[in-house]
Amino acid sequence: MTTIAADAAATVAKSFPGHPLSPATMTIFGAGGDLTKRLIVPALYNLVRAGKLPDDFAIVGVDHNDLTTEEWCRSLAEMMQAFTRAGGGERHGDAIDQQAWSWLIHRMHYMRGDFMQPETFSQLKKLLIDQRGRQNDAGNVLFYLAVADRFFGPIIEQLGRAGLARQSENAWRRVIVEKPFGHDLASAEALNAQILKVLSEDQIYRIDHFLGKETVQNILVLRFANGIFEPLWTRDHVDHVQITAAETVGVEHRGRFYEKTGALRDMVPNHLFQLLAMIAMEPPISFDADAVRAKKTELFQAIHPISPADAVRGQYGAGVVLGKKVRDYRHEPDVAPDSSTETYVALKLGIDNWRWAGVPFYLRTGKSLCARNTEIAVQFRQAPYALFRDTPVDRLPANILTLRIQPDEGLSLSFSAKRPGAEIKIDGVDMDFAYRDYFEPLASVGYETLIYDCLIGDATLFQRADTVEAAWCAVQGLLEAWARTPADDFPNYAAGSAGPAAADRLLARDGHAWLPIATGHPHARRTA
Ligand code: BG6
Repeated sequence: MTTIAADAAATVAKSFPGHPLSPATMTIFGAGGDLTKRLIVPALYNLVRAGKLPDDFAIVGVDHNDLTTEEWCRSLAEMMQAFTRAGGGERHGDAIDQQAWSWLIHRMHYMRGDFMQPETFSQLKKLLIDQRGRQNDAGNVLFYLAVADRFFGPIIEQLGRAGLARQSENAWRRVIVEKPFGHDLASAEALNAQILKVLSEDQIYRIDHFLGKETVQNILVLRFANGIFEPLWTRDHVDHVQITAAETVGVEHRGRFYEKTGALRDMVPNHLFQLLAMIAMEPPISFDADAVRAKKTELFQAIHPISPADAVRGQYGAGVVLGKKVRDYRHEPDVAPDSSTETYVALKLGIDNWRWAGVPFYLRTGKSLCARNTEIAVQFRQAPYALFRDTPVDRLPANILTLRIQPDEGLSLSFSAKRPGAEIKIDGVDMDFAYRDYFEPLASVGYETLIYDCLIGDATLFQRADTVEAAWCAVQGLLEAWARTPADDFPNYAAGSAGPAAADRLLARDGHAWLPIATGHPHARRTA
């Protein structure tokens, strides 16, 4: 592998203190794909800038296109330029850092290969060994499967046959498997069985990119590093919980994938359940990967079977999103004109355990909604009214702890206060914490922590086989029920709205209402 001048490397890439990173090669299957260009390479670039990659690091990209390494790097550079031109805090702010970029591309190598052919893997093995310059040893290798899910099993089998999955005392082998991990319980179980024939569980890193979001990781810190919340975190004090992942984007160019996926599979047993786990799991005995994952699995196993009566599906019709006209889902590219695929889902979940019995968890997610907003709102039980019975207060505003995951990361607690004046008039007010007020924003595409953790062998933020299966198991009955009875009222919400009216009725039935889908300061939200 080509390396650049040692002085440049030294200034850019210092190993992360406390975690001496061992030399490693990252092999990306799907090197020419969108995920590699839009997220993996920008994340690597950010890791270089943060000095969190080992000096002895290399990247091998594998894909079926006939490209030279230079051509591959050029296509990656074009994407990086587009990102930096786009600017914006969430992706990249500044102009491209040429020193970091050059550090990275000097460690890159492209290899053409068909993922289904054994020759690809023998050639890859030879390349890895040559590049490491060791006697018949390719060293530490992280294989990143940034490919369509039909290739997960075959690639891992081929890695096994080529001897590339075998670890030794001095060389680890880890595999990152992207989403979707199966499309239902049976396929997830089959995939686990297939890959566990080749790899041991501790070599498999099943990714859910929501866990790479800082604010999602912070939920555990909020709950377990503070003394004030956890005593209230039970059915005695919590009235209900709302988890929202609202998107303004539609299906974009992903019609073919989305048609057979739909919002339930795409978002619920993975991303929304990760938020649910963080907010509702029991305290683990440590932050050890297995301790945390065991608690998540237990939580998913405690989810009460979801009745179709507790679920609402929707599909967007034409409308206006953020001032722009949007066509209806059925006219999106690669979508059937009579499609019954849902682009919105709302659920009421019950968790059958001591802590949460009787507390409804309402989850919703949808495309082409009025605002992009991912958040969790924990609504506490009302205070007893007695004291205010004779005052002009009909209903005390609820105490709500809102964890804003994106885009306006922060936390707010709403509570009641007396309006100044002779009469007792009560109003809802907020205490608000915004990340940006306390911490420098980090350039992040959300994959940095996940790649870094895999390099250091920390699987806490990745899914274990039983966790993935428990999550699929929780939604399996609903998937089957919906497949049996396609919706007959689609499209049932306008693009740019807050979703179908039936989702409001789902909560109204219990005397609850969704919080407005709006971003920004809580005051703006209350009046939205
Ligand atoms: C992906 C889904 O896993 O997550 C997409 O396939 C969805 O449909 C995306 O848009 C949401 O992720 P984020 O990070 O943009 O909120």
